[in-house]
Parts: sequence; C-alpha cells; structure tokens
Amino acid sequence: MSEDVLVVHGGTPLRGEIQVRGAKNLVSKAMVAAVLGETASTLYDVPAIRDVEIVTGLLEAHGVRVGTGPEGELVMDPANVTRAAVDEINVHAGSSRIPILLCGPLLHRLGHAFIPDLGGCKIGDRPIDFHIQALREFGAVVDKRPDGLHLSAPQRLRGIKYELDYPSVGSTEQVLLTAVLADGVTELRNAAVEPEIVDLICVLQKMGAIIKVHTDRVIEIQGVEKLSGYSHRPIPDRIEAASWGAAALATHGEIFVRGARQADMMTFLNVYRSVGGAFSVDDSPIGGGIRFWHPGGELQPVALETDVHPGLMTDWQQPLVVALTQARGLSIVHETVYERRFGYTTELRQMGANIQLYSECLGGTPCRWGRRNFLHSAVIAGPSKLHAADLQIPDLRAGFSHLIAALAAEGTSRVYGVDRYISRGYEDFDGKLGALGARTERP
Ligand code: EPU
Repeated sequence: MSEDVLVVHGGTPLRGEIQVRGAKNLVSKAMVAAVLGETASTLYDVPAIRDVEIVTGLLEAHGVRVGTGPEGELVMDPANVTRAAVDEINVHAGSSRIPILLCGPLLHRLGHAFIPDLGGCKIGDRPIDFHIQALREFGAVVDKRPDGLHLSAPQRLRGIKYELDYPSVGSTEQVLLTAVLADGVTELRNAAVEPEIVDLICVLQKMGAIIKVHTDRVIEIQGVEKLSGYSHRPIPDRIEAASWGAAALATHGEIFVRGARQADMMTFLNVYRSVGGAFSVDDSPIGGGIRFWHPGGELQPVALETDVHPGLMTDWQQPLVVALTQARGLSIVHETVYERRFGYTTELRQMGANIQLYSECLGGTPCRWGRRNFLHSAVIAGPSKLHAADLQIPDLRAGFSHLIAALAAEGTSRVYGVDRYISRGYEDFDGKLGALGARTERP
C-alpha cells in the first residue's frame, strides 16, 4: 500500500477553476434524515468524500438500501429499517460525529438504537451533553456504556421545550431530527441557524415536517405522524469554497470556485476584502461561482473572532490564518467556538510563520474558554517567508491549511495524513490541485 503522503513543490501560484458540490455538513445530515421517511429519498450533488462513505455504511448497517441514480445522485430507501447490526455499526466507531444524529430517527423507527464511540476532529473536548439531555427530555432512555450509547424509547417520544446553553449545530440537528416525529410541539431556544441547518429544515419540510424558524434563535417543530422521502439539491460547500479562496490568496493566485454561493459566505468575503484579497461573484444559475484572487500589493492585518452563524465560521479560521502569515503587521484571531483549534500552528511556526498563542480572549467578546486557560487566541506577525517542511496533519481543516502553507512555501514539503484526513471533507483534492497547476506528487 502506498504511504499516505503528498509531496508538494511549493511557490507556484494556484490558477484555474474547480467546482464545489453539496456541503459535507448538510449532505451527511440529509442522509440521516432519509431514515425518517417511509419512501426513498434522493440527494443530488453528493461529493465523493469519506464522510459520505461512512454515513452510507451506517445507513446500510440499519437496513437502508443506498444506491445511485442515473445522474449519480444518491438514492436511499429506508423500507427495510428493521434492525441495528451492532457489529456492523461498530466498524464505524471513532470515524465520525454523525452517528449521534441517528438517535432520534432510529428511536422512531426501531424503538432502540446503538451509537458507537464518536470520532471527528480533535479540536476540543466536543461533549455530547446537550444531545443526551434533550433525548432524555423527549422520553428516551439513554445508557452510556464503554462501547457507546444504548438508547431505547419505551413509548412514542414527546415534544419538549428545550434551551441550549450554546447554539450548537449538532444539538440543534439532534432536536430537529427527533422532534419531527415526536408527539406534540417542540420549542428549541438558542438554536443554531447555520445555512446547513436551514437547508436541513428544507429537507425535513419536503418530507412533510412542520417547522417554524422564529426570530432570536427559536425553532418550533410540530410533530407529525409520518414523513415521506425527499428529493433535494444541497447548498454548496462554503467551507471548501473558502479554503480554495484562502489558497488563492496565500499563493498569489486566482481561483474560480464554481458552485460557491455569495449569500452563505458574506462574512468570509468581508474578511477576504479587508485583508486585501479580491473576489467577484458570478451568479449565473448554471456555471456561476466566486472568483478569488490576490490583486498584488501587500495584504493587510485584521482582527477576527470566530462565532456561530452569522459570525465568522470556525472552519474558515485555519485557512485564513495561513493567508494572514503573509499580511504586513499584527493580526489577531480569537477562536470562540472550539477550545483547541490552534494546534496546527505548531507546524506553521516550523515553516517560518510568526504566531503566538494566548489563553486570554483577544477579542471584543469574552468567550467560554477565556477563564479556563485554553490557548484560544492567536497573534500573527507578518509577512513571513514560509519554507518547506515535513508536516503531519492533525485534522481535516488544519490539514487543508497545512496543504495551503506547503503550496505557498519555497521548496518541497511532505504532507502526511492527506488521505486519512483531507479526503474526509474535500472531494478529489489531488485532481483539483492538478487542475490549478500545483506541483504535487504521490511517491
Ligand atoms: N457542545 C457542547 N455540548 C454538546 C454539543 C456541543 O458543549 O452537547 C459545544 C462544543 O464542544 C463546541 C460548541 O458546542 O464548543 C459547538 O459545537 P457544535 O455542536 O456546533 O459542533 P458540531 O455539530 O460537532 C459542526 C460541524 C463542524 C463545525 C461546527 C461548528 C459537522 C459534522 N461538523 O460540528 O465542522 O466546526 O459544527 O460550525 O457538521 C468540519 O467540517 O471540519 C467541522 C469540524
């Protein structure tokens, strides 16, 4: 078997065009929603990424038939969801965070569920206390054992009034996927309202759910007796689009990201412009997208804070920081969503970047991590000449940032762990790098 490494000869501006497809963080949830339907669901524009393979395996372990239609769309038929094959489910232990979202749908379909140990990126503790608390309020019995969660629903789950301590994306999805078939009304306060959540609500509405999104992060769900399958074209992947935008800036290049959508990326685009990057939006219904480029001259430093939507996404932080190593002056980045999302800066420092981490909240909003001694603020002094290094990727988004840094650096870097991590969320990144003129090799 070949080694999981990409050799990157840096210093060449990335130029050209690539395409983004359905958002990873919607596609995987829409696949889970298919379990709730009484008929088959069809999902278009599904990217060929490992997370989709993982969720496919999980659905199949529960009896969902997953196949592809004539246009390559994913067709999921839940007619035979009659079992929970613990051994087959366990194969996916530690591989993703999606299994936790199967709780509600499986409790409705089977009356019980087994959820193996979760995986996902090591960017913080990532507890699941909100999920478990909400499920218990719905009436589920949740038993935490060493191998994972064992759940049962002695009776039909019933609607709840629940307020999240923090507008968590996964917990909001958990409540939505459980409340749609619960008895009565659910009111969720302090809900996350990311575009991927709104798109999941669109999926559920197509299935027959009744969901109202009120102002001030309140979502009201009227439980219904049954849901049917859906046919859906997901929103484009705004994290991947921003990653390529940052790559254009860091390598002094120009990339047209076909499929990228302005409305979902406003906050990123504001930052991009403040830093000195240029973009133009082509909103043609077919073939449109966003062109990102480095217009020449010096990049400007900025002060940023990540936040829940409509704030700056935490997943945009790492690729932006690589670009900020090239700005003249001091940039400040305050990460408020995850407590350990700066681990990747160790490798950037090894490549010549000047980045200091702080446990204080270096931003306007004090966050949950300020008093708890987590290194969650960064000061980046630039511009720094990046040089090649051997890099071990720690997680998905950090991994892509290491790749950007290697592409921007002088010399030849070896980036380890690309298939393990980057292919979880970036479709055909080897092919896309080739299309953009990057000089990379698989040894
Ligand atoms: N949290 C709790 N308790 C819970 C749930 C969450 O304290 O029960 C905390 C987390 O520890 C974190 C914060 O709430 O500090 C936000 O976590 P959230 O639940 O919003 O994150 P998630 O649903 O696990 C999704 C994406 C992440 C993305 C975040 C934030 C998926 C599969 N993952 O994670 O995406 O960073 O929302 O937008 O949708 C990625 O794609 O690389 C990725 C990590």
